Amino acid sequence: MTLILLLAAAYLIGSVPFAILSSRLFGLADPRKYGSGNPGATNVLRSGSKGAAALTLLGDCLKGTLVVWLAARLGFSAVEAAWAGLAAFFGHVFSLFLRFNGGKGVATALGVLLGIDGWLALACLGAWLLVALLTRYSSAAALAAALAAPVVGHLLIGSMPVTAALFIMAAVLFWRHAANIRRLLAGTEGRLGEKPAKSV
Ligand code: G3P
Repeated sequence: MTLILLLAAAYLIGSVPFAILSSRLFGLADPRKYGSGNPGATNVLRSGSKGAAALTLLGDCLKGTLVVWLAARLGFSAVEAAWAGLAAFFGHVFSLFLRFNGGKGVATALGVLLGIDGWLALACLGAWLLVALLTRYSSAAALAAALAAPVVGHLLIGSMPVTAALFIMAAVLFWRHAANIRRLLAGTEGRLGEKPAKSV
């Protein structure tokens, strides 16, 4: 399999929108039509269904892990596997199945980190949990984890191409959270499990 084919397959796998699929499975409204409008686990949780939110989180996370793991199993290098993870992340954010719209990428990024290095994923999950417990803002927690990823990744792995993939993922994640950052600064961001002050 060539690298181009790997990246295309990774993008396709990343494009599968688990927020939409699990919402349909649980008979819920389309998450793009309520709350923050984001097809992601945090917003699905606003529907009140913890099961659908958990399934979204699991699916969006594991598709990232699966891609990195599969790439390694197929004999691609660690750097190529990390870049395949980045392609899956792009699939989630610019999903082929959602007309190139998509989620903010937090769960998929975590899954990619898990595929790259378990300690890296654990460190970023730790950053997420710490900020989430202190603030109850899912977005602030995601931003903290995104900041940690390239720094911890570089310290642990020490490979510039892998650090670059992690940095790009963090930068896109920040860009996707622009509205959340504005709401955090204005003090109007909804906390975990709450309805956001500003609906779509
Ligand atoms: O996982 C996305 C989270 O960081 C923010 O989600 O729905 O509050 O915009 P949301």
